[in-house]
Amino acid sequence: MKTLILFSTRDGQTREIASYIASDLSELAVDTDVVNLNRAEEINWASYDRVVIGASIRYGHFHPALDRFVKKHLQELAARPGAFFSVNLVARKPEKRSPQTNSYTRKFLLNSPWQPDLCAVFAGALRYPRYRWLDRIMIRLIMKMTNGETDTSKEVVYTDWAQVSSFARDIAHLTRDSALNQA
Ligand SMILES: Cc1cc2nc3c(=O)[nH]c(=O)nc-3n(C[C@H](O)[C@H](O)[C@H](O)COP(=O)(O)O)c2cc1C
Repeated sequence: MKTLILFSTRDGQTREIASYIASDLSELAVDTDVVNLNRAEEINWASYDRVVIGASIRYGHFHPALDRFVKKHLQELAARPGAFFSVNLVARKPEKRSPQTNSYTRKFLLNSPWQPDLCAVFAGALRYPRYRWLDRIMIRLIMKMTNGETDTSKEVVYTDWAQVSSFARDIAHLTRDSALNQA
């Protein structure tokens, strides 16, 4: 049996985190498939005994495909232990990096019919040179308002990879029994 890791990304950071988790899990002898949630048409759920979903924030929202996916596959998601992680720049501040203190994640958990057994919030990446000009202006404005990086020649990765590894270890230990015990 394998762990299915689905990711929803705009600029690639959530894919990188998903791959990092997969690589850590493989060192822990856990087989994984890493799949783009937007392209997950046919999923052979019978092959998976665990599921992980990761999604990033853009202008205050996860991609609408996340909600659609959760609704469509709710039965399959609820039938196995699951973990969720969100990726955003607000989480570059440690005090905004927990499911309770990160407003996007808290809102998702409040409204989602799928209730993951594990949840984490990771700081994403700021990659000014790769953004379209309007996005660059908007992000710079937000960063200025929140005392962040405003040099538009910079690319900064805020992701704490040790935090990602720790989440991967928790996933490796996640079983239906442990999930039920946490409930
Ligand atoms: C156009 C744009 C809008 C963004 N909006 C937000 C936002 O509202 N809140 C936030 O915390 N981060 C925001 N971010 C930061 C992203 O969440 C961060 O860059 C993350 O690493 C993106 O992950 P991805 O590459 O997997 O899409 C935004 C980034 C971009 C480029």
